[in-house]
Order: sequence, then structure tokens, then C-alpha cells
Amino acid sequence: MNNYETLMKRCFELARQGEGAVSPNPLVGCVVLNKDGEVISEGYHSKYGENHAERDALLKLHNGEERGGTLVVNLEPCSHFGKTPPCADLIIERGISKVVFAMRDVNPKVDGVKKLTDAGIKVVSGILENEAKKLNDVFIKNITERKTFVALKTATTLDGKIATSNGSSKWITSENARNEVKVIRNRYDAILTSSSTVIADNPTMAHRKKIILDRNLKTDLTANIYKKGQVYIFCSGKSCIDGNITYIDTPVNDEKLDISFILEKLYELGIYSVLVEAGGKLNGSFLPYTDKIYHFIAPKITSDNTSRSAFDGKLITDINDSQQFIFDEVKEFPPDLLLTYYPMDIS
Ligand SMILES: NC(=O)c1ccc[n+]([C@@H]2O[C@H](COP(=O)([O-])OP(=O)(O)OC[C@H]3O[C@@H](n4cnc5c(N)ncnc54)[C@H](OP(=O)(O)O)[C@@H]3O)[C@@H](O)[C@H]2O)c1
Repeated sequence: MNNYETLMKRCFELARQGEGAVSPNPLVGCVVLNKDGEVISEGYHSKYGENHAERDALLKLHNGEERGGTLVVNLEPCSHFGKTPPCADLIIERGISKVVFAMRDVNPKVDGVKKLTDAGIKVVSGILENEAKKLNDVFIKNITERKTFVALKTATTLDGKIATSNGSSKWITSENARNEVKVIRNRYDAILTSSSTVIADNPTMAHRKKIILDRNLKTDLTANIYKKGQVYIFCSGKSCIDGNITYIDTPVNDEKLDISFILEKLYELGIYSVLVEAGGKLNGSFLPYTDKIYHFIAPKITSDNTSRSAFDGKLITDINDSQQFIFDEVKEFPPDLLLTYYPMDIS
């Protein structure tokens, strides 16, 4: 027997298949049941500009078997014309009797609930709402704050170290964990790192868009990171496009590039989410702007206080001045763990 929570979890799974392809749209999955409660179709939003999940699922049905049935979806169905016509209209046209969804759409243009209830469709909302909000944390921030979502990934020992004092860092975590990093990168519009990390590690960080913070242009353009993808280098005093590289002249405060300026610029460039993968200094500077942290932990202890810490941003003398977070989940990538957490003030 299907219950709404099980069906909603299936919607989340379907929705995740659009990761990396739907930005700036939300991740949405949909399940359709006939009037006897049997699953008859599934769909998801697979790419920006393509059909929404409800339309994808309903257009697979050709014989009216959805009439009198239920449609389950993780986001309130849209009621406005965007790149595609309103999903609420198709739901009404197809004779669905009940719509079950997880969260209201934060886009003020959408009022699917009104359109559906006006048409006599029963609406049930709030099923796994918190999980649905986490799934679409990027979309929510983009729509409600008009700002780029900042995620940060770090990999540390149990004593919070990312490298020894001389920079040795390969590899702290296992191949299992490093494979998961590739999955995480794909969720975001771009990855972001620093001149220091490019010089120390010569990482590839495979991604379609890469952002490097390199104030004095000291990285070598033959480095692995520049080989593929579109690259944006934030620096001081240069502003031009050269092949796949866009140089962006950036204000400097206290010998550091201005992070607020960089984030505003990214939003202007249509980069609505970014994954920061850097060392302690840049992580420290990004911490106040970070919306979510992916923290891999290897079962190792350097026991060396001179090893480099994952966050190296400020000097505090009172432990109560630490920034506070809320743990979200723990996953195992044996032998390592992945801890995800959000800053305390996120709702
Ligand atoms: N374990 C992990 O997850 C992981 C991930 C990445 C790196 N690492 C390790 O981290 C080490 C490098 O760490 P790090 O602390 O030396 O360097 P970092 O934090 O990666 O980068 C610091 C550099 O970023 C640039 N930068 C530009 N704007 C900045 C700002 N507002 N705030 C801070 N930095 C800014 C500065 O260089 P410019 O003046 O040239 O702009 C600065 O020197 C390497 O050994 C690497 O192996 C570990």
C-alpha cells in the first residue's frame, strides 16, 4: 500500500535526476496514481526549459487512466506561463481529483493551490515539507533573496586538519569519499577555489564552470584546472575575456579579494549556486556567507597542531564567539563519514 510519505520520497528521488541540469529552476519529481491508488506514471523536470515534472508524468498517459486519480509532487504545481504552460491547467484538463504536494512554491507568481481548488480538486500539502525545502535550498535562496547559494566542501582528519604544515594533503579521504565529491559538485552551477590551492595541489576539479580567486594572477595557465570548462578568474586590475577565461577586476580589502562583490557578480553572471573547495584561509573568509557545508571526515588524527585547519578565518578568545551550525545528516563512505550542516540562522 502506498502512503503519501513513501510516494513523496520517490518524488525526491526522481527530482534528483535533474541535478546539474535544471538551474535556475527547482528539482521536481512527480508520481501519478489511478483512482484505485496504483502508480501509473512517473516524471521529473530533467532540464531547464523542458517539461515540468507533472507535465512529464501526465504526457506519458494516453488513455485517460489518470481520470479521478491522484498526483503527488514535491512542489506546488505552477499556475503561470513560463517556458512551458501552467501544470495546474494540464492537471485540471486530465481530470485528476487530488493533488498532494510537499511545499508551496516560493515564487510569488505561482498560486497553483487556488487554481486547483477553484476547479474542485482536493489539495493536500505539507507532506515531508522540511525535506522538500532542503532538496530545493538553492532555488529557495535564489527566489527569496536574489543571491547565489554558497555550499562549501572540506575533507579533514578527526582533528579538523586539511593538510600538514608543509602542505601534504593527498589523500586525506578514501576513493569512496572522493567519488561522492564528484556527485556533490554536479549539484552546483560552479566550483570555486583559490590561487593557493591551485598552486599547492594542481587539482582538476572537473566541472563545466570554475571560479578561481587569484588576486595577483600567480597561477600558471597550464595548470590542470584551466584545461576544461568555462573559467572565471577574480583578480585585481584585469578585466577581459581570453578564450575560455573571463578575468574580473575585483575590489581588494586588507589584501583580500572582496567576497561580497564576487557573490554579487556571480549572480549577475547567472551562476546561482557555487561549491567552495579551498584551504583554510578562503574557507574562513567564506564561512559567514556559507549556506551549507559538506564535511568529509577521515578516521585519522595528525596530532600536530601546526597542521592546517579547515577554517582559518579569525582569532577568538571566547568559545561562545564560534559560529554555530545545525547538523543535517551523517552518511558513510567507508571508512569515511560525510557530515552535512547548515548555519544556525537558516530557517
Ligand atoms: N582537504 C581539503 O578539503 C582541501 C581542499 C582544498 C585545499 N586544501 C589544502 O589547503 C591548502 C591551501 O590552503 P591555504 O589556507 O593556504 O589557502 P586557501 O585558503 O586555499 O587560499 C588562500 C588564498 O586565496 C586567495 N584569496 C583571495 N581572496 C581571499 C579572501 N577574501 N580570503 C582569503 N583568501 C583569499 C589569497 O591568494 P591571492 O592573494 O593569490 O588571491 C589567499 O592566499 C593546500 O595545502 C591544499 O592542499 C585542502
